[in-house]
Amino acid sequence: MICLTTTENTLTKALKQVENNKSYIDMVELRLDLLDEGELASAQIFPRLCALPTIATFRRVSDGGKSQLNDKSRMIKLREIVLQGDFSYVDIEEDVKKSDLKIKCDEESQRADFENELKLKGIKIIRSFHDMEKVPANLFALVTKLAKKGDIPKVAVTPNTIVDVVTLFRMNEELKDVKEKIIIGMGDFGVCTRILYKKIGSMLTFASENEIAPGQLSAKSLKLLYKADQVNNRTNIYGIIGNPVLHTASPKIHNPGFDAIHYNAIYVPFLVDKVRAFFKLAELIRIHGFSVTVPHKRDVLPYLGKITREVKQIGACNTVTRIQGMWKGTNTDYYGFLAPIEREISEGKIKSALVVGAGGAARAVVWALRNHHVKVTIANRTIEKAKLLASETMSNYIEIDNIPKLNENVDLVVQTTVIGMAPNEDEDILESLTFSKPCIVYDLVYKPRYTKLLKRAKEANCRIINGSDMLIAQGKLQFESFSGYHYPHWVNIEL
Ligand code: ATR
Repeated sequence: MICLTTTENTLTKALKQVENNKSYIDMVELRLDLLDEGELASAQIFPRLCALPTIATFRRVSDGGKSQLNDKSRMIKLREIVLQGDFSYVDIEEDVKKSDLKIKCDEESQRADFENELKLKGIKIIRSFHDMEKVPANLFALVTKLAKKGDIPKVAVTPNTIVDVVTLFRMNEELKDVKEKIIIGMGDFGVCTRILYKKIGSMLTFASENEIAPGQLSAKSLKLLYKADQVNNRTNIYGIIGNPVLHTASPKIHNPGFDAIHYNAIYVPFLVDKVRAFFKLAELIRIHGFSVTVPHKRDVLPYLGKITREVKQIGACNTVTRIQGMWKGTNTDYYGFLAPIEREISEGKIKSALVVGAGGAARAVVWALRNHHVKVTIANRTIEKAKLLASETMSNYIEIDNIPKLNENVDLVVQTTVIGMAPNEDEDILESLTFSKPCIVYDLVYKPRYTKLLKRAKEANCRIINGSDMLIAQGKLQFESFSGYHYPHWVNIEL
């Protein structure tokens, strides 16, 4: 189930959030603590108006909420609202004292047993535990203890490393006797657990309307992009590892592709600090293949049983697939770079190239050109790096300041650095170069689509290629290694 958490301060606005997301969600969590004080008086009508199973949650400050009330007053308020409405669940923190749940009512002489009242009304109690800083060591014991009371245990904890993420994924197996449970990994490391909530054995995942805070996922992307609620035992898991990784556009290439060919698979971003631990996770949840981005393209090499010639030459791998029990590494950056200029290369129209930069991306570019008999000159801010790459690839190298003023002897210019990328759109590392004749200008930056360099080249009648062309080309090649099928041509990729 996908559960939308309301974030608004009035019931009308909260209802509007539900309306906006109705086709993506199965239930709603009404956050009473976020509502204005005056709204609480009519909060009981909310479940009927939104017509979806609703959780009443009155979160206190120490657990990431806004309620300043002490537990006793908070429970009194919660009882007033919940018993008058049609809520399906109520969230009560695991450490609320029994005495605070025995509530004294004005008109009755005896104290009311709130838990009992909920049971009689058929409202299920979610017994929640929060840790905003870490994944506690006794997590499994804690869930077992919470479940013993017959309530639904909920643990919302904060993984700080991929090792913690492995702990959360182990819960499915370790706690398989606890049928109904809610497990949430908060923060950036937790994103993969929120998408793969079914794989950690959680009965639901929480979503917001917009992805405003780190680690939040919108209901729309969980439902439409990831189809998180359709994951089952036969779903093949793919993903991307990197640090940072959550901004990556790759899920928008692979997930729609899988969907279009009716392949039961999901592609998930995994924030990874330690590659070694990620390989453990990959074994645990049987990941079939993954993309690799900065800074792990070299770090994965020791774990690969097989690599291609390009991976060996470049010294970096961006695609890992599981083949016959072994991890195989390829480099689709290499082929993705070549894809848009394939014809010119095969017709021998590109004889010489100027490549700016000597980092990871440049390595794939220079090796791809060199292997296709193009004479390359490398220009880089740090000349030693240019020199090193040049000696490996039998290329030339020059100082950035010595880039020729005119492009007379160059058929292709490739820009591989971050210069010109948003938010620094005004920069052009090649501003001293004038395009005196048309050539091909290829900028690996993909945001903005047209960098200052590309705009200038276009005005000079050059053919321009941008980073999204390469990104999509390398993604489509990865898709082939993952699924065994060509990328469906009818999918319109929106990065
Ligand atoms: P990537 O994998 O994207 O290539 P990288 O390996 O960190 O990333 O390489 C970044 C490239 O951009 C390098 O060539 C770097 O130049 P240095 O080798 O001198 O560091 C280049 N680069 C980054 N910031 C730059 C800047 N402000 N001016 C010029 N070049 C820059």
